[in-house]
Amino acid sequence: MSDFKRTLVTCALPYANGPVHIGHLAGVYVPADIYVRYLRMRGNDVLFVCGSDEHGVPITIKAKKLGCTPQDVVDKYHGIIKQAFSDFGIKFDIYSRTSSATHRETASEFFKKLHDDGKFIEKESEQYYDEEAGSFLADRYIVGTCPKCGAEGAYGDQCEKCGSTLSPDELINPHSAISGSQPVKRATKHWYLPLDQYESWLSEWILDGHKEWKVNVYGQCKSWIDGGLQPRAVSRDLDWGVPVPVEGGEGKVLYVWFDAPIGYISNTKELLPNDWEKWWKSEDTKLVHFIGKDNIVFHCIVFPAMLKAYGDGYILPENVPANEFLNLEGDKISTSKNWAVWLHEYLQEFPSQQDILRYVLCANAPETKDNDFTWKDFQTRNNSELVAIFGNFVNRAVVLTHKYFGGVVPQNLKPEDVDSETLAQIPQIKKDLEYYIENYKFREALKEAMNLARLGNKYLTDTEPWKVAKSDMDRTASILYTSLQICANLAIAFAPFLPFSTEKLNRILNVEQLPWDLFATEDILKSGHSLNP
Ligand code: MF3
Ligand code: ZN
Repeated sequence: MSDFKRTLVTCALPYANGPVHIGHLAGVYVPADIYVRYLRMRGNDVLFVCGSDEHGVPITIKAKKLGCTPQDVVDKYHGIIKQAFSDFGIKFDIYSRTSSATHRETASEFFKKLHDDGKFIEKESEQYYDEEAGSFLADRYIVGTCPKCGAEGAYGDQCEKCGSTLSPDELINPHSAISGSQPVKRATKHWYLPLDQYESWLSEWILDGHKEWKVNVYGQCKSWIDGGLQPRAVSRDLDWGVPVPVEGGEGKVLYVWFDAPIGYISNTKELLPNDWEKWWKSEDTKLVHFIGKDNIVFHCIVFPAMLKAYGDGYILPENVPANEFLNLEGDKISTSKNWAVWLHEYLQEFPSQQDILRYVLCANAPETKDNDFTWKDFQTRNNSELVAIFGNFVNRAVVLTHKYFGGVVPQNLKPEDVDSETLAQIPQIKKDLEYYIENYKFREALKEAMNLARLGNKYLTDTEPWKVAKSDMDRTASILYTSLQICANLAIAFAPFLPFSTEKLNRILNVEQLPWDLFATEDILKSGHSLNP
């Protein structure tokens, strides 16, 4: 375990422009929840913070499409997303939103201080303007023909048909998505964070100081830094967002990627108005950001530069365990193309089966490369792992105890070597599992938990208590005693991963959640203890 006194865990704030899907869960929220549950079981002081990211152009576009206000859009999806996380047992200490008053004040003050301290540069540039609508156009608001593939309706930042990244200047026959008119260029002033000035500091902090970061994360940071950092605009000509709080800021808002990460701070503040600073300004706090790979540059480069520029004791992330992407049946998950398994819809199909999805998404998490979710794999992992190994073992141990010993943990009357040899394997499983979780290798960690169930299954198959019971009840007692100790260890090992099944198992074993410290200890369930049916 680390030397820190407390751990602050954040998850990327999902955009409130659609519900959340299995890709979100697999990449960010399930691993973070496992990590937090594990730390809590070990008695660490942990704060788990998230919320909705409610600004940005896609939300305004969605509102326009639906004929409602951006606030209507985020109100709707904030509710759906919050519910989905809670339904899947992702237990944040706070799930707030960037349209909150606390966030508006916090983000606004942050910008103002950087501005007043001279941390920004001001620059005028030519941006596309819609004269009919009387507003500047974000890249997403400019549509035209894709210069790469010829598709109609490509956006000024990307063609969704061929996937090319574009700039509005490249579009053939560009027009405004608001009025349809041909946009013109107009000069506008914006504030920029001069990332180039932070280059050597970032290089030292990350490239020299955090070689332990995941290869995919370190590699992206290295290529950004080696490629040379440029000043980044932190304001936009838009009317949806946190207003720019300085002179000349009328009609402008903070760039969504400037305000959103400050949301981690605002939400901590909202939860702990008098005590938030120890989570953000103490070297004793370990800060960990769980995110997807498209967020790496913002969490490893831009936000740290913002915090560094602000000063005042803000800490930097100790790690940023970003995951790659999950595909669905061979195709990229896409909110706009409605190609996804939405969490709220999954629950309609499989009520109360959150743990199957948590299990499959963790077992197949895109930790080192993009991975594919298929329903076939979902079925196989359920049937031949969760049911055939974990479920089958617990079921056999508990049912036989009811059958032969009236549901009471028997005495260890006739121990044999195979019992102690089996139990002797548990300490190593525990050690490996801990190592893997603490190093963000959740797939491997889950494998260790399942190996424990495998061990139990093999033990029952080798010892065959249902046969022994015909002639030797004392030996049967020892076998079931030993099996039930393995069940108790399973109720600890699986707790971070499968909270719903663990609760069920605890009910069957008639115990409160067993603490991590009991993992791999002897005699967890005492002889004479009654199980539930
Ligand atoms: N909304 C962004 C996304 O879904 C993530 C924002 S993370 C934050 O990609 F740090 F900015 F909040
Ligand atoms: Zn294209």
